[in-house]
Amino acid sequence: MLNCHGVANPYKSNGYEDVAAEFIAGRGRNSSGVGASVVADWSQTLPSGATVLDLGCGTGVPISQALIERGFKVYGVDASPTIVAAFRARFPSVPVECAAVEDSDFFARTFDGVVAWGLFFLLDPEVQLGLIKKVAGVLQSGGRLLFTAPNESGSWPDVMTGRCQFSLGYEEYRKALEAEGMLLVGTHRDEGENHYYLAQKM
Ligand SMILES: C[S@@+](CC[C@H](N)C(=O)[O-])C[C@H]1O[C@@H](n2cnc3c(N)ncnc32)[C@H](O)[C@@H]1O
Repeated sequence: MLNCHGVANPYKSNGYEDVAAEFIAGRGRNSSGVGASVVADWSQTLPSGATVLDLGCGTGVPISQALIERGFKVYGVDASPTIVAAFRARFPSVPVECAAVEDSDFFARTFDGVVAWGLFFLLDPEVQLGLIKKVAGVLQSGGRLLFTAPNESGSWPDVMTGRCQFSLGYEEYRKALEAEGMLLVGTHRDEGENHYYLAQKM
């Protein structure tokens, strides 16, 4: 695969390794960035001190940070080495793996919660479906999933990377979750017009 500079890029970060410096300097510096309060509210549905897997964790600011500050045990996975280095510098005691979510074994353990802010729609549709199956496999019974993706189906360019993004849309996400034993328990839209899917493993 060639990156935007025409150079072979071995990372499966969907273009984020190429824009890592810009990403870290922007979203990576805003502790109260979009999504933090929604994730903080969602975390109240988890047992105290629960384990949470943050997929496409970025620098950890603000999503992992909101969970760490509330006493949750966070594990991160992200495919961009530069962005993972920023995560490690900010949260040195938090386990984080530099890997594509489609390749990771998710620390070979189970979780009470899984969060994926700004990740699903970066992935090809079949990879998204495979990820829903993988998440179902590591969520404990009663465990909760929060991910962002539009309500509508369609594709559009990522403002940072210019790459194509894909939303399966509400009905396809609902069906895919149910097929893997997860119930869509709610949706939410935030001040930045991000749309959230809230699911629970049966
Ligand atoms: C829009 S950013 C969101 C980051 C973080 N969740 C946040 O809220 O700031 C998307 C992140 O997903 C990561 N990413 C993209 N494709 C990935 C993949 N296949 N596996 C793991 N991480 C991926 C990127 O490196 C980037 O850090």
